[in-house]
Amino acid sequence: SSSVQIAPSILSADMAWLGRDLEYVSQADLIHFDVMDGHFTGNLTFGPDILRAVKRNTDLPLDVHMMVSDPDHMVEWFVEAGADMITVHWEASTHLHRTISFIHEHGVRAGVVLNPATPAHVLESIISDLDMVLVMSVNPGFGGQRFIPGALAKIKAVKRLAEQAGAAPLIEVDGGISANNIEEVVAAGADVIVAGSAIFGATDPAAEIERMRSLGNA
Ligand code: DX5
Ligand code: ZN
Repeated sequence: SSSVQIAPSILSADMAWLGRDLEYVSQADLIHFDVMDGHFTGNLTFGPDILRAVKRNTDLPLDVHMMVSDPDHMVEWFVEAGADMITVHWEASTHLHRTISFIHEHGVRAGVVLNPATPAHVLESIISDLDMVLVMSVNPGFGGQRFIPGALAKIKAVKRLAEQAGAAPLIEVDGGISANNIEEVVAAGADVIVAGSAIFGATDPAAEIERMRSLGNA
């Protein structure tokens, strides 16, 4: 398979120095942007205006992870603000097929996110339409949580489901990933690795990206 992509989560950046922190991670593959509404998750983060500000300060594609209740009406805000890909939670979307189609109609890549307790098979009827599946390896809401090992089997199950459907969505994994466990996550089938605290908590975030990338590609 092709080389692993590293997506720093700016949830763990210093919000007062976001421009500087975006520069630190300019050699990454994507910028992961965690949208939380204080309802689907017990935390509140960024809206479309911040996405616009991020877009002005990086050349990297913007990967918008929507941890919001009823994302179906909200995706439009992030499409307009310049998202390159948008993922919505299976648990939160009532009209998932319509929402994925809407995102695609606007030329943006689309994916579905599964919480740790949601099995892979719920994607059976939608997987052929997806550019990406995001497997949560923590319960969403906060950076710096511990990786839930059950995510490894979930990654494999998503991959099998995709193969059976003749589909090849990118598999992204989010939560608790660092240089200590990236190898097993990639070995299970991950294509895109999200890392927040591991990258922004490092003394040299750029070097940490390189270290994780080379471990992931080993
Ligand atoms: C969790 C977010 C993650 C988080 C990852 O709700 O979706 O993107 O920021 O942070 P780490 O890498 O610190 O677990
Ligand atoms: Zn995320």
